Amino acid sequence: MKKVAFIAVILVSPVVLLLLSQEFTYVGASKCQICHKTESQGLQYPIWQKSKHSASFGALNSPDAAFIAQGAGLQNPPENPACLKCHAPLFEKAPELKAEGVTCEVCHGPGSEYKKLSIMKDRVAATKNGLVVYESQDATRRQCLTCHENAHGISFDFVAGYQKIKHPKPEAK
Ligand code: HEC
Ligand code: HEC
Ligand code: HEC
Ligand code: HEC
Repeated sequence: MKKVAFIAVILVSPVVLLLLSQEFTYVGASKCQICHKTESQGLQYPIWQKSKHSASFGALNSPDAAFIAQGAGLQNPPENPACLKCHAPLFEKAPELKAEGVTCEVCHGPGSEYKKLSIMKDRVAATKNGLVVYESQDATRRQCLTCHENAHGISFDFVAGYQKIKHPKPEAK
């Protein structure tokens, strides 16, 4: 029981998350792909690649982006932190991964330590090593809203939006 409570604290405390993110580093989706691309694992990588999250940095080069920026009195969207904070959130912590946009580790935490197979297989060890998982729909929804709540007035339907990006493992037989 104690252990469960301890894990819950790890998952929810922003202070702990901050500490974790200083200790662990970002490795990029190409590393996650190695184990998360097959049908039996749940096709996480190809699903993400086809989603708009993988193209969210590129979107800042579009004519629509120039228009949105102009409306907000902002310049140069692909370099502007005011756009990058949602469209390429690793732009400061891991500038080399900027082009990955809303990549795996934006939602699941920096993977340098948890990506090892022996750790990945053990959920407790993985979360201690930086993996972020979401224990409830509400926790997931709140995470989405950090970017989708104030997105150029585009309204967000969590249920429909989640269907578009979800990448579960197939049910164990
Ligand atoms: C060496 C292979 C390997 C690599 C690399 C890897 N994973 Fe995993 N991952 C696994 C395995 C195996 C599991 C356990 C799946 C299961 O339950 O069968 C897992 C589970 C997970 C889970 C589910 C955890 C849970 O309990 O809900 C997430 C999320 C995850 N990985 C994200 C990532 C991300 C993000 C990366 C890249 C930073 C990554 N993984 C890299 C093998 C890997
Ligand atoms: C608070 C987070 C946030 C910020 C800041 C932000 N965006 Fe977005 N943006 C989003 C989200 C979320 C979407 C997707 C909304 C949807 O389609 O549901 C989006 C969509 C877009 C799109 C695609 C919309 C379309 O035309 O289909 C463009 C282009 C865009 N943003 C440009 C920008 C520019 C330029 C900036 C900086 C001036 C910026 N964004 C700042 C969150 C943000
Ligand atoms: C770090 C910011 C961020 C987070 C967190 C985030 N998104 Fe997004 N999302 C974006 C941006 C930016 C776009 C727009 C990409 C584009 O149009 O190029 C987007 C686009 C989308 C789209 C495509 C819109 C469409 O109708 O095609 C869906 C669906 C979506 N997000 C769902 C979700 C869900 C569900 C969550 C939570 C699990 C989530 N997002 C979390 C930033 C974010
Ligand atoms: C916009 C946020 C977001 C992005 C981007 C994202 N995920 Fe997830 N992922 C989630 C959510 C939410 C869940 C479901 C709750 C959970 O298991 O924590 C999830 C679940 C998972 C699971 C567990 C599936 C299961 O049923 O056990 C794995 C594995 C995973 N993601 C890997 C990845 C990999 C690999 C990438 C990049 C290729 C990625 N995710 C990108 C939000 C995201």
